[in-house]
Amino acid sequence: MKAIRIHQFGSSELLKTEEVPVPVISDNELLISVYTASVNHIDSLLASGFLSHVYPLVFPWIPGTDFAGKIEAIGKNVSNFAVGDAVYGSKFGGGAYAEFMVVTLEMIYAKPASLTFVEAAGLPVAAVTAIEGLFKHGHLQSGQKVLIHGGAGAVGTCAVQMAVQAGARVIVTASETDKNWLLSLGAHEVIDYRTKRFESVAGEVDMVFDLVGGEVQDRSFTIIREGGFLVAVNQHPSAELAKKYNVRTVFMNALPRAESLKQVYHLIEKGKLSLEVAQVYPLEEAGQAWKNIAENLTGTTGYRPVNKDKKRGKHVILIRK
Ligand SMILES: NC(=O)c1ccc[n+]([C@@H]2O[C@H](COP(=O)([O-])OP(=O)(O)OC[C@H]3O[C@@H](n4cnc5c(N)ncnc54)[C@H](OP(=O)(O)O)[C@@H]3O)[C@@H](O)[C@H]2O)c1
Repeated sequence: MKAIRIHQFGSSELLKTEEVPVPVISDNELLISVYTASVNHIDSLLASGFLSHVYPLVFPWIPGTDFAGKIEAIGKNVSNFAVGDAVYGSKFGGGAYAEFMVVTLEMIYAKPASLTFVEAAGLPVAAVTAIEGLFKHGHLQSGQKVLIHGGAGAVGTCAVQMAVQAGARVIVTASETDKNWLLSLGAHEVIDYRTKRFESVAGEVDMVFDLVGGEVQDRSFTIIREGGFLVAVNQHPSAELAKKYNVRTVFMNALPRAESLKQVYHLIEKGKLSLEVAQVYPLEEAGQAWKNIAENLTGTTGYRPVNKDKKRGKHVILIRK
């Protein structure tokens, strides 16, 4: 089969298409014929070696966390699915940039029928991070006020829709070019992060969902009510500031499992969640896909110039039609 592999830590230049054997499943596993895999920041972060102290990789390594496809073969202890079923899912540690991959039951759920394989592959990490960040870690409730930093990104888009539906007042930081679109998703207020300091306009909030990090995160403490929550995804919040402002902080790592994929499935099928696709690439161009999303990386690099041509949504690799 064709797969993208890397043989050492590094960046997108190391992604090579190679011919490798189709993996063999054990009795408790399933073989997926992968149709699509999406690009998540975690894929390139793992490849960079930055997380090697916590998540060591075994080389050669096949990247790719989120995927959609069909079941090709089933281990003899697995009963819930049949060969040919369309599924979507997430495998932390990679394997999805290949024509076939091995999964276990907790990594997959039925693909929402209303979505294409391209659309379905974009969802797992983004949607599950939003659910877990807002509700499991941030304890967001109806009537509360939440500020979502990076609201126009993949996670942010899901979070805005979910927080609005939960009855929260939703304030978002984003580029001016995304303002009308975020308002159409239900956001109550959109703050252009390049021209306004959010702390001078947002007022006090119950929760900040920080998808940006850096100094944006530190400044967020000043607007969270005492006892409120700061949920962070790409940087551990300062314990000192948490104490000073009496804010409860969480650094989270979302792990999409069948139970949360099921929740996402129902949101999609009820028309309550959508996520755009920015660009689709053939497998051989996975490296270019990584380069394109790296430009969106948030946090420590300061404010980039406005890119009016930037496409909103997930970048997805098409492995078979
Ligand atoms: N820990 C976890 O479980 C977990 C899970 C998923 C994602 N993450 C992390 O969460 C972050 C967001 O992921 P994503 O997939 O949603 O990213 P994405 O789709 O690439 O979106 C990033 C968004 O952030 C916006 N942005 C950049 N700087 C900003 C600032 N200073 N203020 C407000 N918005 C800003 C960008 O807007 P412009 O392009 O218009 O500037 C873009 O819309 C990444 O750092 C990712 O690694 C963590």
